[in-house]
Amino acid sequence: MKEGFFITLEGFEGSGKTTLAKIIYKTLLKNGLNTVLAKEPGGTVIGDKIRKILLERGNEGLGYKAELLLFTASRAENVRINIKPSLEKGLIVICDRYFDSTTAYQGFGRGIDMSVIDYFNNFAVEDIIPNLTLFLDVDTEIGLKRATMFHKNLELRFEDEFIQKKEVNGKLFLERVRDGYYQIARQNPERIKIIDANRDISMLTEDIIEILNLKLSEKFKRDIILKLHN
Ligand SMILES: Nc1ncnc2c1ncn2[C@@H]1O[C@H](COP(=O)(O)OP(=O)(O)OP(=O)(O)O)[C@@H](O)[C@H]1O
Ligand SMILES: [Mg+2]
Repeated sequence: MKEGFFITLEGFEGSGKTTLAKIIYKTLLKNGLNTVLAKEPGGTVIGDKIRKILLERGNEGLGYKAELLLFTASRAENVRINIKPSLEKGLIVICDRYFDSTTAYQGFGRGIDMSVIDYFNNFAVEDIIPNLTLFLDVDTEIGLKRATMFHKNLELRFEDEFIQKKEVNGKLFLERVRDGYYQIARQNPERIKIIDANRDISMLTEDIIEILNLKLSEKFKRDIILKLHN
């Protein structure tokens, strides 16, 4: 039984997921709410090894099927070891990327059949579905500029596909991923909130706090008004 509250952050590279996951985490903790921060891929001993394989330069030859299975394996471990036990204890869990990333990148981006994607997503997470997903919607060019400007260590195996503007079936990979995210958001309007992530962090944070106040008050059946601590 899932007792806690599960928040995931999704979006394109450089949309601010990691930055905002940390801000939300600190804000919730400082407001007295027990919170755990998780990330994907990785977050467990085995998951971190898988993360290295997935992101390291030199592994560009990894096939799409193996890639999907590695993300799935990492997620299954993260759910089993971190996410599910924390939710069962009634904690708030924030995860930087989750199964929507697989749907967007491996499904819409790579073009793997959606029935296969859905099967492996369900296989990894079972009933651990986010209560709230914040989709940080950034223009691809702005996101890529941020990601490449700030990530000194460009370990990202995906980097070439974005920067070299690779096409899949006649459409840019990065556009396929972004359009994919919109479709996922349209299909899950209750769970997924779209946030305009082209604005500065303080404005994004304000919007997110407002959403959290509403959702957490509903969940915990008391008025929650989060204060931002710097
Ligand atoms: N709204 C914003 N305005 C300006 N800079 C931002 C904004 N959001 C994030 N940044 C900066 O852009 C860089 C990338 O942000 P971040 O790492 O949070 O993105 P991400 O979505 O986690 O990217 P990735 O998918 O590559 O992990 C960081 O250095 C961060 O400080
Ligand atoms: Mg990140």
